[in-house]
Amino acid sequence: MAQDEITRKVEECWDRGVEEGDPCTRPLLDLTREMIEEYAAGRRDELPGVGMEPRYLLEGAEGKDVLCLASGGGQQSAVFGLLGANVTVLDISAGQLRGDRTAAEHYGYQVRTVKGDMRDLSIFEEASFDLVYQPASIAYVPDVRPVYREVHRVLRPGGLYSVGHTNPAVHSLSLGFCGSEGGAGGWDGAGYRIVDRYRGGAVLRNEAGVANMEEGEPTGEHCHLLKDIFGGLTELGFIISDVAEDPRHLKEPITGKPGSYEHMLYFVALYFNIVAEKA
Ligand SMILES: C[S@@+](CC[C@H](N)C(=O)[O-])C[C@H]1O[C@@H](n2cnc3c(N)ncnc32)[C@H](O)[C@@H]1O
Repeated sequence: MAQDEITRKVEECWDRGVEEGDPCTRPLLDLTREMIEEYAAGRRDELPGVGMEPRYLLEGAEGKDVLCLASGGGQQSAVFGLLGANVTVLDISAGQLRGDRTAAEHYGYQVRTVKGDMRDLSIFEEASFDLVYQPASIAYVPDVRPVYREVHRVLRPGGLYSVGHTNPAVHSLSLGFCGSEGGAGGWDGAGYRIVDRYRGGAVLRNEAGVANMEEGEPTGEHCHLLKDIFGGLTELGFIISDVAEDPRHLKEPITGKPGSYEHMLYFVALYFNIVAEKA
């Protein structure tokens, strides 16, 4: 299947998610600026409905030009909007962008929403943002480099790019949760099994509905390797200023049914976040 067709399917899938009320598509309408400031200052453990790390990015957000990249749905944009940032959201899903407008109307700040592909930011002028904030959505493109290049172009010198990634070292383990409890991967009754070789590429779904790296139809997601994740940034001259792993594995007590996504997150740091500065 050609990449354009896969991207169209991803778009349809997220639009469908919005219609069906998938949790990643629900705008956050119960936040307050006070709550976010407490969270940013470490006086609050979490923000309901969204993981916003690293917290120091929130502290200086007021008045900054922030691009929420492939980040539609009215979650991250609501946090930055409430803090008084000038927020732009680019996402491929029109349904997700509606969520960003819903949040902005609800709280009474302005938001600019742009329907587009994260690999093409030509609608934005060079050096027009102070911060590009991207949750772990870069997995939807086969190659990180075109996204990195565009982000580098639209950032001002000294601007920051915060980008979430799926950890490739544990990706093959996490594939087990995609409909395969006790099946081709994931939980086997005693522990989590690694079922695929460590490698990058498209995540596929086989005839049994199991996500894997070997056979089947593309799911739209990709596993990126560390050499590309980090090397792609440094090649452009980005300075990596921070790397943080998803801290959920450190929490006590362990909750969730063995084999469930919730439970698995106590055993692996499935996501990590990089902050890179445009020199
Ligand atoms: C996991 S969601 C992340 C955003 C959401 N705010 C959240 O916190 O869960 C992934 C987002 O990436 C978007 N997306 C997927 N492929 C894209 C692409 N090629 N260009 C732009 N956005 C894309 C989807 O429409 C979806 O809104």
